[in-house]
Amino acid sequence: MKITSKELRQKWISFYESKEHIDIGAVSLIGDGTTGVMFNVAGMQPLMPYLLGKPHPSGKKRLCNIQGCVRTVDIDSVGDPSHFTFFEMMGNWSLGDYFKKEKTAWTFELLTQVFGLDKDKLCVTVFEGNDSVPRDSETAELLKNLGIAEEHIFYLPKEDNWWELEGTVGTPCGPDNEWFYPLDGGKKNPVFPDDYVEIGNDVYMQYKKTATGYEPLQNKNVDTGFGFDRMLLFLNGLSDGYQTDLFLPAIEKLETLSGKRYAEGGEAQKAMRIIADHTRTTVLLIGDEQGILPSNTGAGYILRRIMRRAIRYCKSIGISSDAMTAVAEIFIGEVYGEAYPNLIEKKGYILEEIAKEAERFESTLAQGMKEFEKCVNGLERKNAFMAQSNPDYIKETVIGGKQAFRLYDTYGFPLELTEELAAEKGLRVDVKGFEEAFKEHQEKSRVLPTGQFKGGLESHSEKATAYHTATHLLNAALKQVLSPDCNQKGSNITDERMRFDFNFPRPMTEEEIAAVEKLVNEKIKEDITVVYQEMSLEEARAQGFVGVFDSKYGDVVKTYSVGEFSKEMCGGPHVERTGVLGKFRIVKEQSSSSGVRRIKAVLE
Ligand code: ALA
Repeated sequence: MKITSKELRQKWISFYESKEHIDIGAVSLIGDGTTGVMFNVAGMQPLMPYLLGKPHPSGKKRLCNIQGCVRTVDIDSVGDPSHFTFFEMMGNWSLGDYFKKEKTAWTFELLTQVFGLDKDKLCVTVFEGNDSVPRDSETAELLKNLGIAEEHIFYLPKEDNWWELEGTVGTPCGPDNEWFYPLDGGKKNPVFPDDYVEIGNDVYMQYKKTATGYEPLQNKNVDTGFGFDRMLLFLNGLSDGYQTDLFLPAIEKLETLSGKRYAEGGEAQKAMRIIADHTRTTVLLIGDEQGILPSNTGAGYILRRIMRRAIRYCKSIGISSDAMTAVAEIFIGEVYGEAYPNLIEKKGYILEEIAKEAERFESTLAQGMKEFEKCVNGLERKNAFMAQSNPDYIKETVIGGKQAFRLYDTYGFPLELTEELAAEKGLRVDVKGFEEAFKEHQEKSRVLPTGQFKGGLESHSEKATAYHTATHLLNAALKQVLSPDCNQKGSNITDERMRFDFNFPRPMTEEEIAAVEKLVNEKIKEDITVVYQEMSLEEARAQGFVGVFDSKYGDVVKTYSVGEFSKEMCGGPHVERTGVLGKFRIVKEQSSSSGVRRIKAVLE
């Protein structure tokens, strides 16, 4: 290794510290509910309020860190050399402090002096301008003065050189300057862009996205992001993301356990990548300061999907799910333990929870696979039979919703797992039919039918549904009584009680607790109808819905509102009217972790 992951971490931070930045550390991987996403998906995401003008709590204007992010939108591509569900972003920021002149100079210095890249090989791109924002010739000029050849500076349109979090109104955004370098061992005279890879970007966050366009921000900010994994790969002249020291020990372990060789490629290599990637994300999510566990709702459901996918791939290379715990141990100890001391502290817990989930799933996996094969065989038999008597017969390629639901309900196959298995056979799953079967099942077990897949699976009883709605009322009441900045950090519901975590810097006073109880009980008494609506994510945000949801631009999201009092994006299920909730009482208010309070409450 030319540079290890530990060295890279250290070099990034110390370089920016030498430019008077402070290391603000990383925040939880779990979304805080403010941005409507379930996980932290970008390095700048936790800093949005400060880019928009709020003073940073540190009192400083120059910040840096390395921030973990979880993205599962490309989960189906994991298995190739370059897709991951977890990544870290090396970032640094100027909150209305320095701007283009310093930033271009520092990135240039870091790349050429600290990382030893050849300035003559660097290529850069800048924003070419459009009707709303002018061409960024200022940055181009600065880059030229630093010594980057004019023919290595390219102007590109908005699709390439404009950065914003997709689809979000009211968020900071701006033109960016992207940095490119040819891969090691590449051609003697590499040609841009074909022979180049992007290594990072400096965004000049000086605009705010509005519903109709962009308006200038008061502050001219800088938001830099260099992918940590990507940079590590690149600086070591590698092209397979699983060959850096972040993954090598895990891959080696999988080789030993399975007796297969990674370098052989093919299915075994793909499986090892998936197991390694998914185990890493699992470790970081369970071990996170706001740690989650696999479940049937929200972020927990995504985690379950990831874990069960990894377990299935363990099977595919003939190893048991114990391999997942063995690999997890490597990530906790030698790879991430230093950067994330949480993991070391929670090691026993993380390994235990992985083993538990594996046990749950393994007990039904083999049976479920048989059941799945039966569905496929059934389809094939039917197709063969029909084709005999009718030459124009179009083959059926859809696995029924009822069958998918049976796999879900009886064998614990997440819908996405069945979809993936189906895709491997060139088939689809009738998702609508699945949802119908799901609803029907709920009705049969006399659960309120407003629930929808992915949101409601855990809340199988009316009481839990009632607690779920009470969670929304509590969330809204806390915002009203304490501060609009209070956001949900987690929740856990059983048939007996609810637990609710939120950010707040100090214990609540007795008066505040009483006021929150009173407000929630008033809303219950008003017997307000809980209104369910589906709308686009943008629309929901524009209407002021808050919530944690793994959504992306263009997605349709499910929303629940209780009058104007509470508006949340959420999968449900919820009661139809607040009147049925009974009396709400806070049993305990305590600290959960630094800056996070926990409320336990009951409905009586
Ligand atoms: N926000 C920019 C990115 O994530 C820096 O790439």
